[in-house]
Amino acid sequence: MALITIAGFPASGKSSRAHQLKAALDARIQGHDAPFKRVAILDDNALGLSRACYDESKLEKPARAALFTAIQRQLAPDTVLIVDSLNYIKGFRYQIYCAAREMKLRTCTMFVVANPELCRQWNSSRQDGNAYAEQTLDNLLVRFEEPSSMVRWDAPLFTVTSDDDDVPAAQIWEAITKGNLKPPNSGTLAVAKAPADALHVLEQTTTALASAIMSASAAQPTGGLTIVATSSGIKASITLPARHITLSELQRLKRQFVTVHKKAITLGTTERGGVDWSEESVANKFVEYVQEHL
Ligand SMILES: *[C@@H]1O[C@H](CO)[C@@H](O)[C@H](O)[C@H]1NC(C)=O
Repeated sequence: MALITIAGFPASGKSSRAHQLKAALDARIQGHDAPFKRVAILDDNALGLSRACYDESKLEKPARAALFTAIQRQLAPDTVLIVDSLNYIKGFRYQIYCAAREMKLRTCTMFVVANPELCRQWNSSRQDGNAYAEQTLDNLLVRFEEPSSMVRWDAPLFTVTSDDDDVPAAQIWEAITKGNLKPPNSGTLAVAKAPADALHVLEQTTTALASAIMSASAAQPTGGLTIVATSSGIKASITLPARHITLSELQRLKRQFVTVHKKAITLGTTERGGVDWSEESVANKFVEYVQEHL
């Protein structure tokens, strides 16, 4: 009936904390009229994922997908599932949260905190084959998206630091046995929704801009151009490279841009902060994207 997501820097002590927590929860289940039968830990090793899968995003993505599939498979009414992995992407924690909500499970997050110096030290002293390559560890520290008690999918959030002797098991027990049980989808409803016509605006604005960029570049093959596009006459200025630009190139960029932003629309939010779905904002973002990728 519960899911506990652990998040923390690489080599910050997450697995030790996961086992501490499991022991404490197991003890509470023994001899009590507990709503659970068992506590299970799901970690990268159980899935045969080596730490090297964080070296490259093309390895990391399927690894994350495998983890998510395993979470869905192991979520069960009589189980407390502890997900012991980096879980450093906000959107991924949101995905886990939604899966748990679908099954009417209580959720909480345990944030294991250690400073980067200590993580590097702990990593270097590892003998278990679970060490991270130097650059990988540094990359993950930079990319880490800290959990926040302000967002529903991370809340309630419990923090345990490297100075703490023990995990806050009593509070976590309270959260997974008595915490608010929201109906499925409440997670989806809770985040700011994109307006209903966002998809339409996205498609239409980018199509109009792509053809405007195409004809502008044909007319004046180089230099900073101010082009006018979209039905309502929104102006977007773009600096094109001094070479011939093909239609297929632009169409490919348009498709990529639309795919990325469609996801944000369907999810009802973007990875970072608020989104402005107005025509003008979409146009500016698209021009930026094209400029960056041409
Ligand atoms: C982590 O430990 C491994 C093995 O000792 C080492 O090769 C690697 O450079 C370490 N990473 C960092 C960031 O220190």
